[in-house]
Amino acid sequence: MEHYVVKGGNPLSGEIEIGGAKNAALPILAASIMSDKPVTIENVPDVSDIRALIGAIEEIGASVQHPDRHTYVINGENVRRDPVDSESVRKIRGSYYLIGSLLGKHKVAEVALPGGCNIGLRPIDQHIKGFRALGADVRMIPPGHVIAEADELIGSHIYMDVVSVGATINIIMAAVMAKGNTIIENAAKEPHVVDLVNFLNSMGARIRGAGTDVIRIRGVERLHGTEYSIIPDQIEAGTFMFAAAATKGDVTITGVIPKHLECLTAKLIEVGCEVMESDDSVRVVANKRLEHTNVKTLPYPGFPTDMQPQISILLGLSRGTSIVTESIFENRFKYIDELTKMGASARVEGNTAIIEGVSGYTGANIKAPDLRAGAALVTAALAANGYSDIYDIHYIERGYEDFPEKLRALGACIAKVNSAEEERRAVNEFNFRVVG
Ligand code: UD1
Repeated sequence: MEHYVVKGGNPLSGEIEIGGAKNAALPILAASIMSDKPVTIENVPDVSDIRALIGAIEEIGASVQHPDRHTYVINGENVRRDPVDSESVRKIRGSYYLIGSLLGKHKVAEVALPGGCNIGLRPIDQHIKGFRALGADVRMIPPGHVIAEADELIGSHIYMDVVSVGATINIIMAAVMAKGNTIIENAAKEPHVVDLVNFLNSMGARIRGAGTDVIRIRGVERLHGTEYSIIPDQIEAGTFMFAAAATKGDVTITGVIPKHLECLTAKLIEVGCEVMESDDSVRVVANKRLEHTNVKTLPYPGFPTDMQPQISILLGLSRGTSIVTESIFENRFKYIDELTKMGASARVEGNTAIIEGVSGYTGANIKAPDLRAGAALVTAALAANGYSDIYDIHYIERGYEDFPEKLRALGACIAKVNSAEEERRAVNEFNFRVVG
C-alpha cells in the first residue's frame, strides 16, 4: 500500500521555497468562472484538492488551459447551470465555493454538499444565512445537494454569528454582482480572504475592508478578465518552520509573507527557537531542547487551527507541560493517539490536549488522520529515532505539493513507496546516505 517510509533523526537544514496557498487558490479558481473573459491565475499549488476543483469547473463547461504546472487560464463564458456533483466534488471542502460563485454569476447554483477533512461538524448555516439575506431561496434536496436561487440578488447588511472563512468568502462571491451594497460584519480576516478580494477587485469588483472585520461590497454588473498570482501558503510555510524546530534544524523558508507568519514566529521564539526574518523569508534555528508553552487556536491573526497539530508535535518534545486548546473545530486531536504510539505523553480532555514533553519520539507505524495532522505526524517521524511508516498519505497530498521531495532537499530521509521492494530500496538508500 502506498505510504511514506521515514528514517528519523536528521536535523533539517537548508533552504526551501513555499508554493501558492491552497486555501486561497480554491476560492480564486471558483471565482474565476464568474467572468466571461479569460482569467490567468499563477502560483497555483499542484495538489489533489486543486485538481478536484479544476475537474469540477471543467465538468460544468469552463474552458481550462494549463500552460505550466502552476498556471491556469480559465474562461467561464460557457459555464452551464447544471448541478455540480461528482466523486471529486464530494471529496473536497472547497467545492462549496461554487455555490457562491454560481449563485453570483447565474443567480442559481446546485452543488453537492462538501466533504473535506473529518475534523468535526462543519455546518454551512452561515453561508446559507448570507445567501438568504441577499434574497436567495436556499434548500437541500436529495441526494445531498444544496440549491440556491434568486430572481435577483440585492445587497444586504449581514452580521455573521461566527467568524467563518468559508462563509465570508461565499457571501462575498454571491454579493459581488448583486444590486446595491452589501456589508458583512464579523467577517473572517485570514490572508486568503484578502487574496480572494484582491483577485475579485482585479476583475472589476468593488470590495473594501478585506483584512478587517467589516467588508463592504458595491455590486457591479460584470467582471472582466485578469492576471493574478496567488499568495504564498501560510500553512505550508508554518509546517516547515515547525519541522525545522522539531528536528533541531536550521531552515530558511523563502517566498513567504513574514507578516502572515507572525503568530507562528512568536510561538517559536517563546519556546526558545531563533527566528530571523527578511522581506520574503524566515529562517528558523533550533539547537537545544525547547521549552513548554500554552496555545489556543483562534481566527486570524490568532494561532491557526491548521497549525495546531504541528505545534503539539513540537511541544511533545519540549521541557515541561503544555496545554493546547482547540477552539475552532471540535474533533481535531485524533492524531494524539498516533503520536502516543511514537512515545509521546499526551492526553485529550474535551477541547484541550495536555502534553508532557518527552526527550524523544521513536519511529512507529502510523496513519494520517487528516491533512494537517498527517503532515505534522511526518514531522514527528523526522524527529524520531528509527523508522516510521505513515499510511493514508492521500490526506497529505490534498494540500502539500511534493512534500517528501521538499523534505529530502532539506536532508530528510523520507520516500513514498508502494511495495515491500520499494521500501527495502528506500531504507538501503537512507542507510547509505547516513553512513556516507
Ligand atoms: C477553512 C479552511 C480550513 C481552516 C478553517 C479555519 C479552506 C478550504 N479550509 O475552513 O483549512 O481550518 O478555514 O481557519 O479554506 N461554522 C459554522 N457555520 C458555518 C460555517 C462555519 O458554525 O456556516 C463554524 C465551523 O464549524 C468552525 C468555525 O465556524 O467551528 C470556523 O469554520 P470556517 O472558518 O468556516 O472553516 P472553513 O471555511 O470550513
